[in-house]
Amino acid sequence: QESTPTIARTDEFMAQFELADGEGDYLTSDVGGPFEDQNSLKAGERGPTLLEDFIFRQKITHFDHERVPERAVHARGAGAHGVFESYGDWSNITDASFLNSGGKQTDVFLRFSTVAGSRGSADTVRDVHGFAVRFYTDEGNYDIVGNNIPVFFIQDAIKFPDLIHAVKPMPDREIPQAATAHDTAWDFFSQQPSALHTLLWAMSGHGTVRSYRHMDGWGVHTFRFITGDGKSKLVKFRFQTLQGKASLLWEEAQIAAGKNADMHRQDLWDSIANGQYPKWEFQAQIMDEEDQLRFGFDVLDPTKIVPEELVPFTPLGKLTLNRNPSNYFAETEQIMFQPGHIVRGIDFTDDPLLQGRIFSYLDTQINRHGGPNFEQLPINRPRVPIHNNNRDGAGQMFIPLNNAAYSPNTVNKGGPKQANQTQGRGFFTAPTRSTQGGLLRAVSSTFADVWSQPRLFFNSLLPVEQQFVVNAMRFETAQLQSEVVKNNVLIQLNRVSHDVAVRVASALGMTAPEADSTYYHDNTTEGVSVVKGGLLKL
Ligand code: HEM
Repeated sequence: QESTPTIARTDEFMAQFELADGEGDYLTSDVGGPFEDQNSLKAGERGPTLLEDFIFRQKITHFDHERVPERAVHARGAGAHGVFESYGDWSNITDASFLNSGGKQTDVFLRFSTVAGSRGSADTVRDVHGFAVRFYTDEGNYDIVGNNIPVFFIQDAIKFPDLIHAVKPMPDREIPQAATAHDTAWDFFSQQPSALHTLLWAMSGHGTVRSYRHMDGWGVHTFRFITGDGKSKLVKFRFQTLQGKASLLWEEAQIAAGKNADMHRQDLWDSIANGQYPKWEFQAQIMDEEDQLRFGFDVLDPTKIVPEELVPFTPLGKLTLNRNPSNYFAETEQIMFQPGHIVRGIDFTDDPLLQGRIFSYLDTQINRHGGPNFEQLPINRPRVPIHNNNRDGAGQMFIPLNNAAYSPNTVNKGGPKQANQTQGRGFFTAPTRSTQGGLLRAVSSTFADVWSQPRLFFNSLLPVEQQFVVNAMRFETAQLQSEVVKNNVLIQLNRVSHDVAVRVASALGMTAPEADSTYYHDNTTEGVSVVKGGLLKL
């Protein structure tokens, strides 16, 4: 018999795990015995503390192990609970259950973050900002692990450790803003020109947001929607802020870092506590499979946007944050988002950055949690029953009753059924996906033009916004020690725009390279007309 998924509201679900403050009760040890813990057990009034004092040892041992490794990236963050409401029945484009009827509500948790800083770093540093959303759907957890900038620095996940090592604090002195750290970051950016598009976005107001409420979230990669009968569409996601976008001036960001390093965290908490619930509209650019190379670039390339003039956004629903966490560690810190957490009706693409991410998050979370059972933590548990043959491991919280933990078996009536795609229950792989080709270790030739879109971005800005970007790059590059790096930066900026290179060079007391027209073409819109497929609203 089919088990009908049941969904509990996240707040009710989480309440089961809440530990009361025990007012009026005795203080107890972790295993329940009442005790007093004001003083350790000593031999004599002025004597040494005894090893025998298990109350002391239990308390101190627990304290000694309070810290777990912070996230390797995006360590600094703040989050909140909320609800997503679908605008309609989208089953003509996806079988995802949270989108299958108008007004359907799904609980969510959203964690905002910066990327490079440690857990205690200031909120207002110039950085890309994380925007990670978990939908607790009635068919399992679905995560969109996105950023507030629609593109990324690299095109292949194998470069991620290089990117992060270049932007993190210097290994010898652990000073994030050390001039040498600027050298490593800009050294990387100027030799890896796929970074230029994201870099320009980060140098604009998107790098110094006014608050987490005043920024958009982007899925970055192209994903797939799949219908119940196996038809697929390519999609790019955006959560558009309904508060409006706003940023800090660089001077404001620097002052705020000194006056209130928790500024963004506090803004989010206070607005929710005061009943001013922040909202985002969840939207998708919807494209046909045949559109992959149609726009003069490759939609599998995560350094590219699909201009909305070409493919408009279709609004799918609204996300509202309405409840602060009860405990930062148990919720905001222990939530483990993964690009691999998908549900029926959603599928991946061959974007090589996405492919690597599907591996990386699970791997790092096994390290962060200390074992493979982190999905059992309250904030990570799906709100539907779990049936599988996973067993044991550190921190195991289930007591499996099934003694035949293998499949196929005849002992336990065969165990849970296999969810079969052809029966409309299974999920993950679009039947339309296929692949071919010889093995190679190379970037696709369709990813080659990395200068047109940074130029498109710069040209889309108002003059005052362009000056903001130029000022930011002047500030950052003025810290560079290495003449080689400064020169390489100017070479790459010149390929984006001679004007930008001249303006940055003048502040460095340098001369920009000659204008090079071989780079000043625009592949983005070559021969493309507006795509009708983007307007698929029911
Ligand atoms: C964490 C976004 C690329 C590895 C995160 C988080 C976000 C994010 C928002 C924080 C999640 C949270 O709040 O818990 C992105 C985006 C990327 C990208 C939008 C590109 C489109 C990559 C790549 C890798 C990677 C290429 C590695 C190959 C990690 C790791 C974490 C992380 C290890 C820490 C996860 C944890 O400890 O829970 N990323 N990331 N990311 N990301 Fe990425």
